[in-house]
Amino acid sequence: FDLFMMKEIFEQPKAVAETLVGRLAQDGKLVLEEMKLSVGDIANIDKIIFIACGTAFHSGMIGKYAMERWTRIPCEVELASEFRYRDPILSNRTLVVAISQSGETMDTLMAIRHAKAQGANVLSICNTQGATIPREADAVLYTRGGPEIAVASTKALLTQIVATFLIGLHLGEVRGTLNSAQVSEIYNEMLELPAKLEQILETVEPLRELTRKFAEKNTVLFLGRHVGFPVALEGALKLKELAYIHAEGFAGGELKHGPIALIEEGTPVIAIVPNTHEHGLDERMLSNIQEVRARGAQVIAIAAEGIDIPGAAHIIRIPASPQMLQPVLATVPLQVFAYEMACARGTDVDQP
Ligand code: M6R
Repeated sequence: FDLFMMKEIFEQPKAVAETLVGRLAQDGKLVLEEMKLSVGDIANIDKIIFIACGTAFHSGMIGKYAMERWTRIPCEVELASEFRYRDPILSNRTLVVAISQSGETMDTLMAIRHAKAQGANVLSICNTQGATIPREADAVLYTRGGPEIAVASTKALLTQIVATFLIGLHLGEVRGTLNSAQVSEIYNEMLELPAKLEQILETVEPLRELTRKFAEKNTVLFLGRHVGFPVALEGALKLKELAYIHAEGFAGGELKHGPIALIEEGTPVIAIVPNTHEHGLDERMLSNIQEVRARGAQVIAIAAEGIDIPGAAHIIRIPASPQMLQPVLATVPLQVFAYEMACARGTDVDQP
């Protein structure tokens, strides 16, 4: 690989596999020794708050969808840089989950101290053994992504999403909102992710070629719904960070509340099409695609095989997966898009 970022994009199947390995015992129970949260601690939780910055914040947003569905515990997500200066309402029944690749981000560390001072329990998700954040947290779940050298987060995000899911499954199982068959089913679906990621990586070259068609554009918009919404935000963040162009991510349902005004003839809009028909989200995204196309947008859809996308100028196919797991797959083409836009525009990819 010419650059660390592409190397790290290609390391994602392994990083995800390593983060999952050995986490489910023969009896179907999740094994999360590093968490050090007792059954009593878990039963006591009445609120969960994810705190993180940047890309790690997006993993928390995705984690919230899973956490609420699987545990039925109210869950919030907050930027550490805001949380640390607020007066959040916390107690010893609050579980704060701090997410950080480096384990050294100052805002996240200060947010942890702020939470602990008010009696909350803090669990960290971290990629760096022995870093300050896991040392100050009450418990840690290490992602096993290996070192991330490129500044842009890639494999850290995917492993953080997986870690939030593991915590959600564990809490759901202990609290009885999921039975062990459900846990095994979801865990087994997660075990299929590395092979699906490998399939996506086989399409990197055509995706790079497609991306170069957009190299002269100065605005790219991203649309998603449900767990596709944080994916849209992440796509925009990567593009801003690496290619230095205007990029924004929106929730599909928000388009009509203002952002649609940004769309002009030829504006590229990358739409993450939901994997399932649940809540009719797929149809709603398809109608968002028609809305932006009516304004002249050039739509690039990210969608599972077999889903018909009328109106899309280009379709990037990803393997089908349960809706909750789709972000792990849908994020990868967006990483490649940002990488290639940066290369085409001559910016420094590894050290933006
Ligand atoms: O090390 P951390 O995960 O705490 O870093 C947080 C952010 O600075 C980080 O995720 C940043 O947004 C990414 N490097 C962007 O690609």
